[in-house]
Amino acid sequence: MERIYLDNNATTIVDPKVKDAMEPFFSQMYGNPNSLHNFGIEIRPYMRIALDRLYAGINAKESDDIVINSCATEGNNTVIKGVYYEVIRNTGKNEIVTTQVEHPCVINSCKFLETLGVKVIYLPVNSEGIVDADILREHIHPDRTALVSIMWANNETGLVFPIHELATLCREKGILFHTDAVQAIGKVEVDVQDVPVDFLTFSAHKFHGPKGVGSLFMREGVNIPPLLHGGEQMGGRRAGTVNTAGLIGMGYAMELAIQHLKYENTEVRRLRDKLEDAILSIRDVLVIGRRELRTPNTILAAFKGVEGEALIWDLNQRGIATSTGSACASESLEPNPTFVAMHISSELAHTGIRLSLSRFTTEEEVDLTILAIRNTVERLRSISMKNR
Ligand SMILES: Cc1ncc(COP(=O)(O)O)c(C=O)c1O
Repeated sequence: MERIYLDNNATTIVDPKVKDAMEPFFSQMYGNPNSLHNFGIEIRPYMRIALDRLYAGINAKESDDIVINSCATEGNNTVIKGVYYEVIRNTGKNEIVTTQVEHPCVINSCKFLETLGVKVIYLPVNSEGIVDADILREHIHPDRTALVSIMWANNETGLVFPIHELATLCREKGILFHTDAVQAIGKVEVDVQDVPVDFLTFSAHKFHGPKGVGSLFMREGVNIPPLLHGGEQMGGRRAGTVNTAGLIGMGYAMELAIQHLKYENTEVRRLRDKLEDAILSIRDVLVIGRRELRTPNTILAAFKGVEGEALIWDLNQRGIATSTGSACASESLEPNPTFVAMHISSELAHTGIRLSLSRFTTEEEVDLTILAIRNTVERLRSISMKNR
């Protein structure tokens, strides 16, 4: 059976070109880049090229820092806990402002800081499913706010937040601003000279790079302690032998992501829209968030009367990988805050599935998925009618 992968917001296939570029760093050039012999020395120019590709990819200045780490979870923990040690413990500021729709690695880092006495404000999204500048303005104050952390694009809905406006607001008030750009890289333009963020995090496996490697951008002059203490790697900002193959792969994946940005916003968008139009032609379906406000690859759709898990299971039996998009918090069955803000009924909130495409998604795969979704939704609805 042919398999179709439509869960690219969870992780992506490694681009074969990236895999080839990484290969020599496992079996030939495997030295430790900090060693003084040639096994180590010979790797450094390749690391430099990879770093240059990362700097170019987000338009960072040479004087800014890009720290290589293991994933975005690590980067986000480093920023939030680093601000606690550097700012909250040393100044009178004791508040962090974030949103109700961040990834668990941000939310749970903030929850941990609450146990240490930090006040965390979790902003709601508006009726469009995004965080707007007015609500942020109401909740920040230069004397109290140590950090604002707001994602660039949401992993579940694909909604892109007005990061330029939000970051500029914080800059004007002298408040540190962090953005989790995991779902933005390769989908929208990310330019740290245009958008005044102090910290930005991303993860290679979301843009056709390898798993286990990510980056933390830190603007020049911004200082927080490392999360991991040890050797002097990354200029003392992140200890631990760098994942050289991972860095080489991430650098190349970034360059390819930038090269494909136009394709992503034309061809991937076209395929996404085709799939979305077909989904919307089924009765009693809701797609969350206006299309123009979303990353070009994402659909979060709710099918009335069809449990999200049942639909995913059925599609999986047909070889199609999708996800629930965490429409509800799994343990509590609380509806997702985006659904609540958008006044989506809790009945519908339990029926969401997320389909996320990539530049490797083909038209044929989209056509097969359309057929499968139509059949599956019809089948599941007829079963639930019979059980009434
Ligand atoms: C928005 C967002 N932030 C952070 C992460 C965590 O990334 P990683 O698994 O690389 O730590 C994810 C992964 O799903 C994500 O979507």
